Amino acid sequence: MYINTAKKYAPKSISDFIYQSSDADEVINAYASGVIERPLIFHGSNGTGKSLLQRLIPNAIEKREASLHVVKCADLKSADDIHDLYGRNKRFNRTFTINEQRFNYIIIEEFLMTNKKMIDALKIELDETLGTDLTIISTNRFDKIDYGIVSRSEVLGLLPCEPHVFFPHAKKMFEGEGVEVDDAQLLKCLEVTHALKADNRKYYSAIDAMFRKI
Ligand SMILES: Nc1ncnc2c1ncn2[C@@H]1O[C@H](COP(=O)(O)OP(=O)(O)OP(=O)(O)O)[C@@H](O)[C@H]1O
Ligand SMILES: [Mg+2]
Repeated sequence: MYINTAKKYAPKSISDFIYQSSDADEVINAYASGVIERPLIFHGSNGTGKSLLQRLIPNAIEKREASLHVVKCADLKSADDIHDLYGRNKRFNRTFTINEQRFNYIIIEEFLMTNKKMIDALKIELDETLGTDLTIISTNRFDKIDYGIVSRSEVLGLLPCEPHVFFPHAKKMFEGEGVEVDDAQLLKCLEVTHALKADNRKYYSAIDAMFRKI
């Protein structure tokens, strides 16, 4: 049988997300309460759930599907682009958020910024929009992020899930499809996958392959 498990069984909320560490769980839940206003930086290797959490956290804060402004860092070319991203009419922004949300959400993917003027513009925007806009950044290159940006932010490193941590989620996919699976065989599959490459995406492809054999 053919199943796209990454699509069908992706976590739909922060409570479905598989936390490899309890630190991550705590920080995410603190953000979900809407009390923390500091920008949030996710870093970690490929397939650790950074982009997923960038989308799930706003929904958790708003308790409904949040409206997001998503950009790839590489599409920001100048300091003006940074100011435009946050909107130049700050007086409006300070009073209103889109759809009466708790925050306006600025989601910056694949963060890598080396241009000094852009970095300065971002620092200014992070300060000026604090409390109104919540900026959530993801990157594989945490070592390259300017300290001024790091200093203003909460930093959360994500790790790929260990096989036994991912196991209950994998098991639910088989239950969801009404397919019996041998626990030992499933765990072995996750262990082999993890040993080849520690990347949560690979678990989904390995499970798709198990379904294909059925
Ligand atoms: N902790 C997790 N629990 C459940 N599913 C996860 C988890 N982490 C990642 N996934 C799933 O793995 C896939 C990749 O996740 P995501 O795109 O968030 O990774 P990423 O960290 O942004 O990777 P990259 O650095 O390559 O952009 C998605 O299908 C996502 O649903
Ligand atoms: Mg990503």
